[in-house]
Amino acid sequence: MNNLLSIWELSKAQIEDYLALGAEVKKNRTKYLHVLEGKTLAMVFEKASTRTRVSFEAGMTQLGGHGIYFDFTTSQLSRGETIADTSKVLGRYVDVIMARLYKHTDLVEMAKHAGVPVINGLTDEEHPCQVLCDLLTMREKGKLKAGAKFAFVGDCAFNMANSLMLGCTKMGMEVALVYPKGYPPNIKYVKEARKYGKVEIYNDPVQGVKDADVVYTDVWISMGMEDEKAERMKAFGPFQVNDELMKHAKKDAIFMDCLPAHRGVEVTGDVMDGKQSVVWDEAENRLHIQKAIMLKLLGKA
Ligand code: CP
Ligand code: NVA
Repeated sequence: MNNLLSIWELSKAQIEDYLALGAEVKKNRTKYLHVLEGKTLAMVFEKASTRTRVSFEAGMTQLGGHGIYFDFTTSQLSRGETIADTSKVLGRYVDVIMARLYKHTDLVEMAKHAGVPVINGLTDEEHPCQVLCDLLTMREKGKLKAGAKFAFVGDCAFNMANSLMLGCTKMGMEVALVYPKGYPPNIKYVKEARKYGKVEIYNDPVQGVKDADVVYTDVWISMGMEDEKAERMKAFGPFQVNDELMKHAKKDAIFMDCLPAHRGVEVTGDVMDGKQSVVWDEAENRLHIQKAIMLKLLGKA
């Protein structure tokens, strides 16, 4: 079965295919109207979402199909029906499933039983849709170049950093992971990313972003980490992306963020709204890349 579960599983050529189709769908919106007519997407959410939910649903509408929002808490999953049984049933009703779950193993289980393509809408391990969108955005901004430096500042041990270090190295970029001591990146991902390119680690934010072409951050308290808030706020405090830190990146560096952002916490409002920020173009690209993903997995492009 054709799924999109992780950046880990994608080759550079497959990433290139998604990026090319994303760019094409963005340019020729009318060409793809009605292509998925009669098709249904189930959007399974165990965690909150703004961008993923709305871009998938709007994207499916724009392709002529229909999206169903399927909330864990109001489904029988909340009363003990298993992921496997739920997936078998959903696969009898819909053509494609997008799921945002805590455990990556639950997503793999879903893909095993669904009988239709499954898309990872974020797990604790990976966020492939976001990273395909980010790579498309970097390409549009002229930053997806061999040897360009991508600096991820903040929580390097979770989904965004995992997927980004793989996506960027596979596409030829050099990665700097910049994080406080005590919160090291997932060594499994670092080892894998190093098969494709350079991954350096820094505990000093200024050194980490030095001469970067792209500076990226994400929340310090990801969904599911709410209990760790106090200690994380303290540890990550010096790693805020602000104008002072941005001065150490290249003059024409761009600032990226998967969003949501907490202004004044991991990034200042000045950086978010500043000249180097591309976050709104980046958020828009979620829509185009989701459409490309659905078209590809349903064999329409
Ligand atoms: N970036 C992202 O996935 O946003 P949502 O959590 O709002 O879907
Ligand atoms: N790391 C964040 C990403 C949100 C899109 C989280 O998992 O909450």
